[in-house]
Amino acid sequence: MTIVKYKIENRIAWVSFNRPEKRNAMSPELNREMMKVLNELEFNDDVGVLVLTGEGTAWTAGMDLKEYFRETEAKGLGGIRQAQSESYGWWRKLRWYQKPTIAMVNGWCFGGGYGPLYSCDLAIASLEAKFGLSEINWGILPGGGATKVATDLLSMRDAMYHAMTGELINAEKAAQWNLINEAVPVEQLKARVTELAEILLQKNPVALKATKDAIRRVSEMTYDNAEDYLIRAQEAANSFDNEGRKEGIRQFIDEKTFKPGLSTYDITK
Ligand code: ACO
Repeated sequence: MTIVKYKIENRIAWVSFNRPEKRNAMSPELNREMMKVLNELEFNDDVGVLVLTGEGTAWTAGMDLKEYFRETEAKGLGGIRQAQSESYGWWRKLRWYQKPTIAMVNGWCFGGGYGPLYSCDLAIASLEAKFGLSEINWGILPGGGATKVATDLLSMRDAMYHAMTGELINAEKAAQWNLINEAVPVEQLKARVTELAEILLQKNPVALKATKDAIRRVSEMTYDNAEDYLIRAQEAANSFDNEGRKEGIRQFIDEKTFKPGLSTYDITK
């Protein structure tokens, strides 16, 4: 049985952490397998949106304390660096993924799990999900990007409280703190994520990729640098899909078949 599984249904790739008996803790083997799966799906034309979820009661219980920490530390610095590059590698791939991505957080999300959580463009959780920066509870700082995720998404006070106490928060609070977009009852989770994926599937894919990259990039820029980046990003997107926006304008101005403020142009025309 593979520890990362996926299926493609109606242009949505449902990718799952599949170590439910270990609460989907991220071991080196899981990290390698996830990278393979992401590579396989990224330019697959049958996939328009990727959803990352977990089997069983956890989304992911973070890094595998035995296999990722204890066993790689026993191999010395080379082993540690290799394990880091394998996990950070797939999170980075996911941050800049060609397709839009949604974290469907079905349960526990701890520590290192904040890496892939942040890598996904959008995050919807079940009301039953729980989130924790538990590193402090076993004597380390939130590494592997977790501190960066907390400070990027949370206020300074909330990040400090979350990281220093190691207390769990529920999905409602995670939404209030902007760690996720929204929390829904478990029985609605898949339907809500599907609905969101379907919205994304109707958008121009070149514009979506340019948009998601721009949101991540410009947050660190001055206004002037952002303005310049966005001019160039738009021009680069136009060179991939010069007709898309012209078609959008045509359907609005000439055909009068849609209003961009209210819906999406028909990308199949
Ligand atoms: N690393 C290694 N093994 C783990 C991890 C983990 N992060 N999380 C769970 N497991 C294993 C347990 O050791 C146990 O293995 P066993 O059946 O061989 O004894 C199995 O998964 C089931 O775990 P339980 O603790 O029995 O499951 P329960 O549902 O009662 O609790 C919970 C779930 C709360 C997630 C608990 O397992 C837990 O606290 N896990 C650790 C969470 C954590 O702090 N992760 C590290 C974050 S810091 C970082 O990622 C850098």
